[in-house]
Amino acid sequence: MKTDDTILVCGGAGYIGVHVVRALIEAGRNPVVIDDLSTGHAASLPDSVPLVNGSIGDRTLLDEVFSQYSIEAVVHLCASSLVAESVKNPAKYYRNNVCNGLVLLETMIENDVRTIVFSSTAAVYGDPQFSPLTEEHPTAPVNPYGWSKLTFERMLHDFGSAYGLRWLALRYFNAAGAAADGSIGEDHRPESHLIPLVLKAALKIKHPELSDALPGSLKVFGSDYPTPDGTCVRDYIHVCDLADAHLLALDYLADGGQSVALNLGNSAGFSVKEVIETCKTVTDLPIEYKMAQRRAGDPPELVSDSARARKVLGWTPKSANLSDIVQSAWNFHQRFPQGFPKK
Ligand SMILES: NC(=O)c1ccc[n+]([C@@H]2O[C@H](COP(=O)([O-])OP(=O)(O)OC[C@H]3O[C@@H](n4cnc5c(N)ncnc54)[C@H](O)[C@@H]3O)[C@@H](O)[C@H]2O)c1
Repeated sequence: MKTDDTILVCGGAGYIGVHVVRALIEAGRNPVVIDDLSTGHAASLPDSVPLVNGSIGDRTLLDEVFSQYSIEAVVHLCASSLVAESVKNPAKYYRNNVCNGLVLLETMIENDVRTIVFSSTAAVYGDPQFSPLTEEHPTAPVNPYGWSKLTFERMLHDFGSAYGLRWLALRYFNAAGAAADGSIGEDHRPESHLIPLVLKAALKIKHPELSDALPGSLKVFGSDYPTPDGTCVRDYIHVCDLADAHLLALDYLADGGQSVALNLGNSAGFSVKEVIETCKTVTDLPIEYKMAQRRAGDPPELVSDSARARKVLGWTPKSANLSDIVQSAWNFHQRFPQGFPKK
């Protein structure tokens, strides 16, 4: 029997996906997850949520999912998303983020599902020509990851014109934090994001990104950027605020809203050193780090202008304070110092 009004969450076992799934459940919606568990964790999902273990590139599997459930809309979070890996292995990024995404879009149209909320990224802009970044900023990615996301956005435009697909491309800045109770949170393997790396350094957890020479210490890439303290500045947005934006996005499209790309950030920049200081205050632990060379492709500053999302969706981030974001992440890392268990 078909369940009515199901939201198909592609990549729903990943970091942001599980928070979207939780927000959907809390709003009384029916999420179904498809995830190949390449970077996601089955154990992070509630038992009540159906998990289809497989790839969105598997047309037969997708057809089965669309026949089994009455899918109202798709939230598409699947991606390979390590910038440095995308430079070394672009084929993986175009295959997963573009080719597998194309299979998803084609299968949606074949099954007459024409609403999608897509996880895009600030990486579509490339090196900022002005700051904060509005959606009007030129899109000129500086790595294959960014290009693969921008290519998918282009496909959304063209599928909209030709097949009546209705979409929102949500361009996230730096997702961070965790559910307030620490029951779900960020567990990428390998981890490349700053706040979990700093908190793992506080807990003295061994990690490939951490220096071997100083156990528990952290590398900060670049101290000579044109920023107030010389380290990179980023815009951190609480993962639960991102999840809320997905609910608003689904309602907006259901109400006939126009397809558009929207920045999702707090419109406030924090340097790497400021993040480390905030983590020291929240954890009350010493956090060692050492300075390293700049990494290729890291812009000095990425800060959003998210006025359009606030206006179009009526979205207001509830946890804009960096200490609150770090505190929630700390709750998760204390509860799961080694990450989610295997299921
Ligand atoms: N985390 C951030 O700060 C951030 C910033 C900007 C954009 N994004 C984008 O948001 C999305 C979610 O990010 P995240 O941090 O939760 O990443 P994540 O790796 O934790 O989640 C992605 C999920 O998709 C699954 N997946 C990947 N390819 C798949 C496929 N072909 N079929 C089925 N499942 C597949 C993975 O197993 C994983 O569960 C990604 O698209 C990412 O590019 C993330």
